[in-house]
Amino acid sequence: MILQKTEKFTLSRLNNIDLLKDLDEETKKLITQYLNVESEYRYALREMSAKLENLDDYCQRHFDHNPIHHMESRIKTPESILEKMQRREYDMDFKTLRKNVYDIAGIRVICNYINDIYQIINLLCQQRDLSIQVKKDYIVAPKPTGYRSLHIVFDVELYFNNEIKKVPVEIQFRTIAMDMWASLEHELRYKSNNNLSEEEKNNLKNYSDTLYNIDLNMQRIYINNTVGFDGGNRDDD
Ligand code: GTP
Ligand code: MG
Repeated sequence: MILQKTEKFTLSRLNNIDLLKDLDEETKKLITQYLNVESEYRYALREMSAKLENLDDYCQRHFDHNPIHHMESRIKTPESILEKMQRREYDMDFKTLRKNVYDIAGIRVICNYINDIYQIINLLCQQRDLSIQVKKDYIVAPKPTGYRSLHIVFDVELYFNNEIKKVPVEIQFRTIAMDMWASLEHELRYKSNNNLSEEEKNNLKNYSDTLYNIDLNMQRIYINNTVGFDGGNRDDD
């Protein structure tokens, strides 16, 4: 049930936003063109969120296990899209935006255990209207900061009248522990104006490794005491 529709970024509001006031014509055109297709990203986000909820529900019914703890989703703001394109020194045109910015529609999926992440991805890969475009496994190979997550971009097939469009949705998969680390590390970095000492950075990296070991150990206890959702004890109804 839709309780509340979020405010849409309509073209009529275009001239009222501060962002656009000082923009050159090229960038204004880019944003206008983007706003014309923004709804595609919202549809793709909704489709992907439904798929994830359905998978969680399926696992609950068949394996008595909910792999997903919770999810958050967002559509990137036009400000943030421009900031990213400028930071990466992209040409400021619509074609470049469509080709290079994959994270306009984004979902963060927080899982209980590390294995849940890989098993959900396996299940998503079996769906014929999804294809993987980019996969970055920062769980196996964390970033130098200690950041862990698995980022994956799926192209989602959407049906519009007689046309099928593929729209990218970025999913960041994390365990509860990885999410705790990423939220606090982000805040600490922001609060320090990106000026953490080498010792503090090193400590944060070590805490990430400690949390990863805790994740593995908690998962071991879980596996020892259950028949995980990839086998056995299936209750087909
Ligand atoms: P963006 O332009 O920032 O989206 O970068 P990207 O598209 O190259 O993706 P990348 O794989 O670097 O991941 C970007 C996102 O991952 C960020 O928006 C953060 O949410 C998260 N992230 C990446 N590195 C870190 C980190 O060191 N700490 C924290 N807290 N989050 C991070
Ligand atoms: Mg991103």
